[in-house]
Amino acid sequence: MGILTPGLGAVATTFIAGVESVRRGLTKPIGSLTQMSTIRLGKRADKRTPLIRDFVPLADLNDIVFGAWDPIPDNAYESAKNAGVLEDKHIEPLKDFLTAIKPMPAVFDQHYVTRIHGTNVKQGPTKRDLAEQLRKDIRDFKANNGCDRLVAVWCGSTEIYITLSAVHQTIQSFEQAMAENHPDIAPSMLYAWACIMEHVPYCNGAPNLAVDTPALLALAEREGVPISGKDFKTGQTWLKTVIAPGLKARMLGLAGWYSTNILGNRDGEVLEDPASFKTKEASKLSVLHTILQPEMYPDLYEGFSHVVRINYYPPRGDNKEGWDNIDIVGWMGYPMQIKVNFLCRDSILAAPIVLDLALFSDFAHRAGLKGIQEWLSFYYKSPQAPAGLEPEHDLFIQQTKLKNTLRHLMGEEQITHLGLEYHP
Ligand SMILES: NC(=O)c1ccc[n+]([C@@H]2O[C@H](COP(=O)([O-])OP(=O)(O)OC[C@H]3O[C@@H](n4cnc5c(N)ncnc54)[C@H](O)[C@@H]3O)[C@@H](O)[C@H]2O)c1
Repeated sequence: MGILTPGLGAVATTFIAGVESVRRGLTKPIGSLTQMSTIRLGKRADKRTPLIRDFVPLADLNDIVFGAWDPIPDNAYESAKNAGVLEDKHIEPLKDFLTAIKPMPAVFDQHYVTRIHGTNVKQGPTKRDLAEQLRKDIRDFKANNGCDRLVAVWCGSTEIYITLSAVHQTIQSFEQAMAENHPDIAPSMLYAWACIMEHVPYCNGAPNLAVDTPALLALAEREGVPISGKDFKTGQTWLKTVIAPGLKARMLGLAGWYSTNILGNRDGEVLEDPASFKTKEASKLSVLHTILQPEMYPDLYEGFSHVVRINYYPPRGDNKEGWDNIDIVGWMGYPMQIKVNFLCRDSILAAPIVLDLALFSDFAHRAGLKGIQEWLSFYYKSPQAPAGLEPEHDLFIQQTKLKNTLRHLMGEEQITHLGLEYHP
């Protein structure tokens, strides 16, 4: 199986280096459900809890090859060194392997990511032509590497904020807009279109719309391809979706939640651009509202203040630091505060998500699933949901849905946590 990543930066190289290290027995796949998590089957008394990877026919790590596109021509070794996530003691033993992974020329336009200056870029008269070049890359990669199947996970930069417009509504309007070089068609959408046309499941790790348009959803349904997005749920938002359900479960109120971050990697630099930050902000802001449901619980959650800030601060590199100040409300309206100081490593948290999304999406494709894979919401800050439905943000509901989907696909009973004695 081939895993293709548009973007060969910090996340993609940390993911690739990690998989290779696991294959060589140098490290464990910590953070990956597909590699480390178990799943309970049947009744508790049955004591059946295999590893997910022993239960579900997922691709074996030893059967994976990697490909990428990037406007920056650095190979995976150079890019990993530059990203500064992994230490030399982890990169140097993999030098030959990583050096051999060279990015294919990208479909890139600085209008959509202003802070990246790339030279490894495709040329073509129209966006349609560029997308056809991507399709050829995909076919060539498959043939040259002897792959049976491919999956793509977007690990490219966050593009500027684009709202849905008429061109995104139908397959026809989308394809016409590609031919006419319409500005509402961003490069990430061209990758998504090309992958779906080549029957390659597509996962969107950034908050850009990309595959989250009615046109591309219809295309994915038509072509029978699983898609999912948006924006890997890694650090601060992951914790938010752990803490907020806890507050709500106890019926504690929320007056405000202030989140700020400093980070110094290239992603942080891209997010310095207000247009790219706006895309990220929209993604980060969406979670609390859907978990807390202020319309249903106005006494607890009406009008809470939610502020998210990201500041580019070069000395911090990829080791982001986040602070959360949470003003909560208890019995008789008494205020309390929770402070969280999370010193996380962004790409270390993101890498296993890339792996899981790739393996699960490939499995979903083989199982005949198509369109939005809501059971993969677990991995996303801003999960795609069918039109008219709110996405699910609560990490624990997402986890239950993920595991129950696996049980269902494998013909096992759903687990509801209702004891037998309560069944009517
Ligand atoms: N924890 C995390 O690290 C995390 C969490 C959620 C989302 N993300 C998102 O994942 C993405 C990757 O993050 P990163 O830290 O690796 O960033 P990065 O800047 O290190 O890497 C992104 C790479 O994408 C390339 N790129 C930009 N436009 C491209 C295009 N059109 N085609 C192909 N490549 C393109 C850039 O040249 C760069 O090398 C970002 O969008 C980020 O917002 C990361």
